[in-house]
Amino acid sequence: MAVVTGGGSGIGAAVARRFAERGAAVALVGRTREKLDAVASAIRVAGGTAHVVAADLADPDAPAGVVAAALAEFGRLDVIVNNAGTASLTPLEQVAVEQFDRELAVNVRAALFLVQAALPALRRSGFASVVNVSSAAAWLYRPGQAVYGGSKAALEYLTRSLAAELASERIRVNCVVPGPVDTPILYQVADDIEAAKVHLTRMTPLGRMGTPEEVAWWVVQLTEPEASWVTGAVLHVDGGRALGPPPGA
Ligand SMILES: NC(=O)c1ccc[n+]([C@@H]2O[C@H](COP(=O)([O-])OP(=O)(O)OC[C@H]3O[C@@H](n4cnc5c(N)ncnc54)[C@H](OP(=O)(O)O)[C@@H]3O)[C@@H](O)[C@H]2O)c1
Repeated sequence: MAVVTGGGSGIGAAVARRFAERGAAVALVGRTREKLDAVASAIRVAGGTAHVVAADLADPDAPAGVVAAALAEFGRLDVIVNNAGTASLTPLEQVAVEQFDRELAVNVRAALFLVQAALPALRRSGFASVVNVSSAAAWLYRPGQAVYGGSKAALEYLTRSLAAELASERIRVNCVVPGPVDTPILYQVADDIEAAKVHLTRMTPLGRMGTPEEVAWWVVQLTEPEASWVTGAVLHVDGGRALGPPPGA
């Protein structure tokens, strides 16, 4: 069974649906119970198994609570997808300590402590893996993105570090790096959403934004038996966004 954080919308919801299609039970984690319930209901209608765990991952106690809830429901835990994320676009002079702490807590701290809390279950699994969801922002040095980009760069380091630490226990840790996808998180960093989409499309070498499903496919694929020799990978699924803007953009 797979724990998917941020499973109530966007990429996380697509990941949860994909796992369910592949026959895996999913625990959906996020703050907004209604969004999680809607995704879980759709999965159940389609014949899958889904459980909702409402939690604020900025809370230091949340990771242990999420793992306990998943184990209480399913009795096992094989996969963690650290997909929940919060983004900002804030000039240096306006960055507040509270914003910095909250963004790092959700994007990085919760990911590490979810894996820590799940370790005994992952050790028992037999095909355990973790997939972290980073961002092309970790590779692009845009004014105002020190906190968000920095948090995702930390998540990528964490991926490789945990991959090295857990490889001897056959627990794989990988990372998918999405480029621009039309999901609610864009509203956290853009006032004019339509102008932002035009800009992001122009800045992406493959000439379009991606879909949640295009990212979700790779997230789930990294947990499959065919990927059993892949660990510490940081895989760009971004239309070439991290390569920088195409000529003339
Ligand atoms: N969309 C893009 O262009 C893009 C590009 C690169 C990377 N990404 C990354 O992809 C991941 C998924 O984002 P998305 O694009 O699918 O956007 P999204 O639909 O806004 O998903 C973010 C999810 O994280 C959850 N979340 C946020 N803060 C949380 C908290 N404190 N505790 C628990 N859950 C929390 C949200 O649910 P609640 O609000 O209900 O808690 C939401 O379901 C993020 O890590 C994001 O950084 C996205």
